[in-house]
Amino acid sequence: MPSSTNDVVLSVQDVSISYLAHRGRVQAVNRVSFDLHRGESLALIGESGCGKSTLNLGIIRLLPKTGRIDQGKILYTMRDGKTVDVLDLSDREMRAFRWGECAMIFQAALNSLNPVIRVREMVYDTAEAHGRRNRAQVRARMLDLFRRVRLDPERVFNAYPHELSGGMRQRVLLALGVLLNPQVVILDEPTTAVDILTQRTILDVLKDLREAMGFSIIFISHDLSIAAEMADTVATMYAGEIVEIGPVNELFYRPRHAYTLGLLQAVPTLSAGAQELSSIPGSPPDLIEPPSGCKFHPRCPFATERCRVIPPPLVEEAPGHWVACFESERVLAQSVQATEGRGVRHPAG
Ligand SMILES: Nc1ncnc2c1ncn2[C@@H]1O[C@H](COP(=O)(O)OP(=O)(O)O)[C@@H](O)[C@H]1O
Ligand SMILES: [Mg+2]
Repeated sequence: MPSSTNDVVLSVQDVSISYLAHRGRVQAVNRVSFDLHRGESLALIGESGCGKSTLNLGIIRLLPKTGRIDQGKILYTMRDGKTVDVLDLSDREMRAFRWGECAMIFQAALNSLNPVIRVREMVYDTAEAHGRRNRAQVRARMLDLFRRVRLDPERVFNAYPHELSGGMRQRVLLALGVLLNPQVVILDEPTTAVDILTQRTILDVLKDLREAMGFSIIFISHDLSIAAEMADTVATMYAGEIVEIGPVNELFYRPRHAYTLGLLQAVPTLSAGAQELSSIPGSPPDLIEPPSGCKFHPRCPFATERCRVIPPPLVEEAPGHWVACFESERVLAQSVQATEGRGVRHPAG
């Protein structure tokens, strides 16, 4: 994986996470590594159950009781340049880290606001829990952020959650999430529960906030067009592993992993006829007893004998573009062909 340089804010190194289930240990995240740079936006893509949420809950150490981080390091660099391993932080330090340094905004935000307290009380409580006791200051900053996310500041500040629409509540959480000026914002399917116009607004305000505040983003979405729009870098996860990671244009126009190619081909495009639509055959593997070799091999049209036996290492095949696939050259050839077939211009190189 990319070596740490000094503009790396979060370096996830060889992290594995498992859950204890009735049938045994679920290996939800397996030896994942990546670097998140200052101001960078990283999208995580992959089918449901591939470990995206688990990875991010691990980063902020909010896994359910049955979950365990088995190995690895989560190195976080503070503004003053000091680097800490998140896994070494005390509970108190962890609480400060969660809102002040690394904020996470969950999917289905609609239910994460307490219905019986006003927005302003929630804001004050949260701020106070993080040592911000000057209410006038907190209020001024919050109103400014509400304005930035295109909410009527005074009205929303004094409202109960039920007086706000789903999209408004999502924006309240976004604004609250960045109140303490975090360096990293994690968004887990932030637009899943909302209609398409609300989705548009949320993406636009997120871009505005990022522009103004300069935080880095880890963005989880099952919608590839949103990932393409929001991300500088995209990582494909399969069965708990990052199987491909690279610059957004590389990954979307020149994918080198058969699974990424499969995901892209499962997306309907305006120009493609229905007959060109294909989905990936088979279903995601059992994470208690995953397949040998490359975990994707049972579903992969490119798989050879070697893939059934040996797990492919993640290799940098183009600048910043890493892939774990023995047959990546063949996949790339087909990717380029498919891209041209769809009439999409792909970047040269
Ligand atoms: N609390 C849990 N107990 C046991 N297994 C879990 C738990 N939460 C998630 N899993 C399993 O871990 C894997 C990864 O899940 P998750 O991180 O939610 O994936 P994603 O966010 O990509 O949909 C899945 O196989 C899922 O069934
Ligand atoms: Mg999830």
